[in-house]
Amino acid sequence: MQVSDVVTNKKMVILGTGGTIAGTATRAGDHTGYTAAQLGIAQLVAAVPALAGSPFELLTEQVAQIDSKDMSFSVWRDLAGRVSHWLAQPEVLGIVITHGTDTLEETAYFLQALLHPAKPVVLTCAMRPATALVPDGPQNLVDAVAVATHPGARGVVAVCAGVIHSAMDVQKVHPYRLDAFSSGDAGPIGYVEEGRLRLMRNWPLAPVDHTQAAIESIAMLPDEAAWPRVEIVMNYAGASAAVVQALLASGVQGLVVAGTGNATLHHALEAALHEAQAAGIPVVRATRCSEGRVLPTPDAAIPDSRGLSPVKARVALILSLLGKRP
Ligand code: SIN
Repeated sequence: MQVSDVVTNKKMVILGTGGTIAGTATRAGDHTGYTAAQLGIAQLVAAVPALAGSPFELLTEQVAQIDSKDMSFSVWRDLAGRVSHWLAQPEVLGIVITHGTDTLEETAYFLQALLHPAKPVVLTCAMRPATALVPDGPQNLVDAVAVATHPGARGVVAVCAGVIHSAMDVQKVHPYRLDAFSSGDAGPIGYVEEGRLRLMRNWPLAPVDHTQAAIESIAMLPDEAAWPRVEIVMNYAGASAAVVQALLASGVQGLVVAGTGNATLHHALEAALHEAQAAGIPVVRATRCSEGRVLPTPDAAIPDSRGLSPVKARVALILSLLGKRP
């Protein structure tokens, strides 16, 4: 898509992957009985008059069209490839990605950990389908473009309900309300208010921009089965060794445990995880608490997740296992 009032050669790229923001329902009042990922990204952007006045050329590209509960490694690989491609173009200021809310935090962390982009990569979404009486997607899209074109913005962030979250901290914390995300203890990076940004803290750190090398290793992965299989297990009352033993028997390559509190583990589960380690399977200990981080304990036999939630610790372990491959 190209808009009429373009006054510079600068470009903004909007990549579509599906989600509720592209969802439709047969009844306008229906906020739950809809089908995600129905409208194309060009259609979504064209339906937002506020974007037509952009001083930048807006380009759209459909990378996937899925409900994000079905997010896959091959979509991540394709998405990382397209993000990398566009970021390398000097005239591209930044990228917006429309995404389902359900696994948005995983994709955001994956892209940040892999690419450390020096330009902004902004994931946005909606809690209501595009056909809702009052959809939230259009405003989120306008806010995301404001962030992606903000001078000095960098790294992977999520924008939802006027709040800018770092990929490192963002978590979906509510299944229904429009402001469904939180950055927990860290707090948001800032807010988008009438198109202007009010910043509270720094953008995600981008110490090294190693986009090309990282992408090359991911791009080589032919299919889902080539990615390391890392699973998440949880501690709870009455936890046992059974799940870990079944996973080991089925060839799991890494484990993240969502422990209770400061990542404590039922002794039976802990023993099974030690067996996994003894068999050469890396294990990482995160917490199932939704806020705070695991505080390292001296001599801990299972390393902690360094502040990452269980789902992000899993992504980190997958990337680390990929990095160790010849
Ligand atoms: C999805 O994650 O694709 C569906 C749910 C949503 O976007 O809110």
